[in-house]
Amino acid sequence: MNVLLIGSGGREHAIAIALKKSPLLKRLYIAPGNPGTARIGNNVDLDVADHSGVIDFCRETAIALVVIGPEQPLIGGLVDELEKRGVLAFGPTRAAAQLEGSKGFTKDLCRDYRIPTARYARFRALEPAMHYLRENGAPIVVKADGLAAGKGVVVAQTLAEAESAAQAMFAGAFGASGAEVVIEEYLEGEEASLFALCDGVRALPFATAQDHKRVGDGDTGPNTGGMGAYSPASVVTPEVEARVMNEIIAPTMRAMRERGAPFKGALYAGLMLTRDGPKLIEYNCRFGDPEAQVILPRLEDDLLKLMLAAARGDLPQDRPRFSPLTALTVVLAAKNYPGTPMTGSEIRKVESAAAVEGVTITHAGTREEGGKLLAAGGRVLNVTALGESVAEAQARAYAAVDLIDWPGGFCRRDIGWREVAREHNYIT
Ligand code: AMP
Ligand code: GLY
Repeated sequence: MNVLLIGSGGREHAIAIALKKSPLLKRLYIAPGNPGTARIGNNVDLDVADHSGVIDFCRETAIALVVIGPEQPLIGGLVDELEKRGVLAFGPTRAAAQLEGSKGFTKDLCRDYRIPTARYARFRALEPAMHYLRENGAPIVVKADGLAAGKGVVVAQTLAEAESAAQAMFAGAFGASGAEVVIEEYLEGEEASLFALCDGVRALPFATAQDHKRVGDGDTGPNTGGMGAYSPASVVTPEVEARVMNEIIAPTMRAMRERGAPFKGALYAGLMLTRDGPKLIEYNCRFGDPEAQVILPRLEDDLLKLMLAAARGDLPQDRPRFSPLTALTVVLAAKNYPGTPMTGSEIRKVESAAAVEGVTITHAGTREEGGKLLAAGGRVLNVTALGESVAEAQARAYAAVDLIDWPGGFCRRDIGWREVAREHNYIT
């Protein structure tokens, strides 16, 4: 069958690699794709925001399934339009994508279904928000309600910081996304993510991962889309996973069904593992980037088959199988990311890095020009390695990173540090 994959990041390159392994796949189209996906499928220059254009393309090329990588087309209602015209899609409808699209929506749902999460309040005006901040004090977390490319969250250590975050949001720092502000209790613990595959009724636990959101080593500096990840995350023990499935994911699936917006696709639960058990920090309605780059290489089942089953509403009873190996990915970013990245610099020797045992390179913000590979975005390449342990995967990934010749880029040098420290303590 023919598949259309929407997106252009490292996540989509990783999804393309996994789909390509399926015996069910005939042709893979990626819109718009990147130089990495061009090597394994056909990149097509479609305007994803033009839903009728996407539907026409699906008709012309006999697309049996559309797989949507990023959140914007989901929140924009692409799945609704596709379904209306009889095209099968992997991903939630606009109403179900509210789990990511509106933090207030998700917090109210948690309240109504007693899902463990941080205490919170929603505000549409500055004065009551300032009053609430003064009453509760720091540390406290201030969030723009809507999408803000990972930048709409301020974890404030002082009251002054919290107040200026609320002021900036109501002054329009995030446009319409900041017209409403959610203020929440600061949760202490270690973060991890659990991904579930959902078919509207059933949710199957898929895999766990730990992202590294801050730009600098030791988790310092501003937040980014993610600078590296590893999977599985051992902090999500089988007991923790069972609690997350029972206390967080299952009631969410029920709530969405009861609200007439059953959730289909990949449900990404961002968790804080607190002393009182796992609590939901946020939902995303898609695979993570760079989490997909470490989850999918470990998948031993057919991704296309699973995505079809999720889209059709008939996921199997049994959870998908994964390799016990660890995967770790390091994101290479253009200098100055997460500020305006310095693009246009040349990247050399990617092939030598890809030749390191157990290593796969996925492209994100790259472009090819005159036979040269150039940086064309913030997050540019992902170097992913498999290993028997996180330490081994980490060593391989950085050995490959060091072979890449790119003075215009940088990366964190400590991806996986928590887990490496745990492995070390366990061994000694
Ligand atoms: P979000 O975009 O909601 O995932 O938030 C971005 C980051 O802010 C999370 O990955 C956490 O590190 C942090 N964060 C969000 N909410 C809280 C909270 N209630 N307590 C502590 N940290 C939080
Ligand atoms: N890596 C975080 C995300 O995909 O939202």
